[in-house]
Amino acid sequence: MPLTNETGIELHDGLLINRGQLRHCYRHPTDPGIVVKVPSGSRKDQLEANLKEYRGYQDLIRRHGRLSCISHCLGFSDTNRGQRLLCECVRNEDGTIAQTVWDTVVHQNGCDLDSILIETGELCSYLIERDIRLFDLNPKNIALSRQNNGAFRPVVLDLKGRFDNNEFIPLSSYIGFLARMKLARRSRQLIERIRYLYAHRQSLRRQPIQMAQNRPSAGESCGRLYSLPMMWQLAELLLEFTPL
Ligand SMILES: Nc1ncnc2c1ncn2[C@@H]1O[C@H](COP(=O)(O)OP(=O)(O)O)[C@@H](O)[C@H]1O
Ligand SMILES: [Mg+2]
Repeated sequence: MPLTNETGIELHDGLLINRGQLRHCYRHPTDPGIVVKVPSGSRKDQLEANLKEYRGYQDLIRRHGRLSCISHCLGFSDTNRGQRLLCECVRNEDGTIAQTVWDTVVHQNGCDLDSILIETGELCSYLIERDIRLFDLNPKNIALSRQNNGAFRPVVLDLKGRFDNNEFIPLSSYIGFLARMKLARRSRQLIERIRYLYAHRQSLRRQPIQMAQNRPSAGESCGRLYSLPMMWQLAELLLEFTPL
């Protein structure tokens, strides 16, 4: 059934681009430059995701100015309830919608892994050099905009993780040094993840589309056992300082 709101945006399955863990992302029915993000259910985290992303986006822009490596948020289509977030649609240079790193590496036959690793690595270096704190760097949150010369331009399309600190003690929100370490660690994990996806793409193709994509968050993985997230955080810190 089509979803309609007072501004007249009517969404239907034919416009669906992809389903994330918390939101469904649709093409705008009349404007090819825009996507519409809609909560995928009525759970608190699903309902709050759009507002989190918008706040994260505003904070990024306030600190760093207009960035070319993110999909910009354009505002809400339903201002009273703030339910639908409008963002720039990430497209390839030929006009088609850009695929995520995940979809490219797992589902595209003959994808150019080396060039994806190089371009994604450069995105990570850029984020680290400028201290742009985007911690939710997972392969489903980065689109690869294919240029006409065959190169890829990676664009971060999910910015809600900026304020989504799952640490038991949110140290990296306050201590710049720890935040930079965390960003470097997330970047390394992203590169490792891409290699893993590529190596296991055949079996991943056979799995259901919705599968765990991040390491478990404190709430998801441990329920009310708060000691486990704390131990996780301590383990991460220890690993960081252990010379290998
Ligand atoms: N700006 C965009 N341009 C093109 N596709 C997008 C855009 N934003 C999201 N998508 C697609 O929708 C999927 C889910 O969006 P996302 O914002 O990551 O939702 P969630 O909060 O559920 O993780 C992405 O993995 C991607 O395939
Ligand atoms: Mg996402």
